[in-house]
Amino acid sequence: MNLVQSPPRAVIGLAEAAIDLGAVRANVRHYQRQLRPGTAIMAVVKANGFGHGAVQIAKAAVDAGATWLGVARADEALELRAAGLTVPILAWLYDATELMWLSDVDVSVATVSELQQVVSAPSVHHVHLKLDTGLHRGGSTPDQWIELTRAAAHYEALGAIKVRGIWSHLSHGDDAAAPHSRRQLELLRAGVVLARRAGLEPSVIHLANSAGALTLDAPDCNLVRIGAGLYGIDEMGAGLRPAMQLVTKVAQVRRIRAGEGVSYNHSYVTPTDTTIALIPLGYADGIPRSAGAGGAGADTEASVLVRGVRMPVRGRIAMDQFLVDAGDLPVEPGEPVVVFGPGDQGEPTAADWAQWAGTIPHEIYTGLGSRVPRRYKEATR
Ligand SMILES: Cc1ncc(COP(=O)(O)O)c(C=O)c1O
Repeated sequence: MNLVQSPPRAVIGLAEAAIDLGAVRANVRHYQRQLRPGTAIMAVVKANGFGHGAVQIAKAAVDAGATWLGVARADEALELRAAGLTVPILAWLYDATELMWLSDVDVSVATVSELQQVVSAPSVHHVHLKLDTGLHRGGSTPDQWIELTRAAAHYEALGAIKVRGIWSHLSHGDDAAAPHSRRQLELLRAGVVLARRAGLEPSVIHLANSAGALTLDAPDCNLVRIGAGLYGIDEMGAGLRPAMQLVTKVAQVRRIRAGEGVSYNHSYVTPTDTTIALIPLGYADGIPRSAGAGGAGADTEASVLVRGVRMPVRGRIAMDQFLVDAGDLPVEPGEPVVVFGPGDQGEPTAADWAQWAGTIPHEIYTGLGSRVPRRYKEATR
């Protein structure tokens, strides 16, 4: 059992995700210190900023020195523009019908037919040509690259597009020191040489994600795309700070007798008399059902922090609620509960929940439901 020095502050409503924008800024600055001078940071804020709130995270990241924003989809880019963010934005998954809305958003292009769609759009787009260097998840195949770069140079000469970037994505992004990554870098380097030979002069070359930016020595690249690291998902043990703390409060408590089953199908039967506390969050809010008893990841025990004590999850996690075992502690309704946070007060982290559920922290954060309000604070300086 872990004891904390100070209890978490009061939660407004049933639950909230408290997001420390100071941690996001600190994480950006951490990258700036580690990167080769002259390397720009693209803050990847897709999927609502990995569940943290795209606009707020983007503003904090830009404030701390990120000079690009990256998103998957068109509507994500438009949300950032509507919020007044003016730095270049790259969107890498869009439909041709959306191009008319994306006049001031850079777009990724992987094939000649995509290029032609961009050329046919009403405005002149900034384009990043994407080369598949091994992930095999989109991008130009190496054998179509020369044709693509020549077509792009042709359209650029006509003034129909501007090729601003050449890029690729690592296949072993959480282990960027892998030989695969070096091979991908070599292929990208060769692709850039061919593009220059075709007459293109891209101003940004980018390959690395959060882990790659810290481990892959890539002097050819002058931009890194940082997603996980912004939010404090610390795959490389670099000392990044998780930005989100998910807090709620005990909804009800109940004393039950030894031999009683709890929650659906009674997949957990208490061996002793105990106090069960009801936590008002469930899988609709992103608490992974697989972390509870009867779920796929149930071989290790999920828990939350109440009164400085880790209380294990008991029985199945339901859509809106789950139960924890308070033992003989006199827990009362309304008491603060930390579901996860940075971990320095003894609470579980999102990485712990990911492990309990057999997934990655990215899925815990992005799975956080829309019923959970996000509240922003500046705790880390
Ligand atoms: C194309 C692309 N680049 C960069 C990133 C950021 O990766 P990471 O979250 O590992 O930093 C992502 C996120 O998955 C991505 O899809």
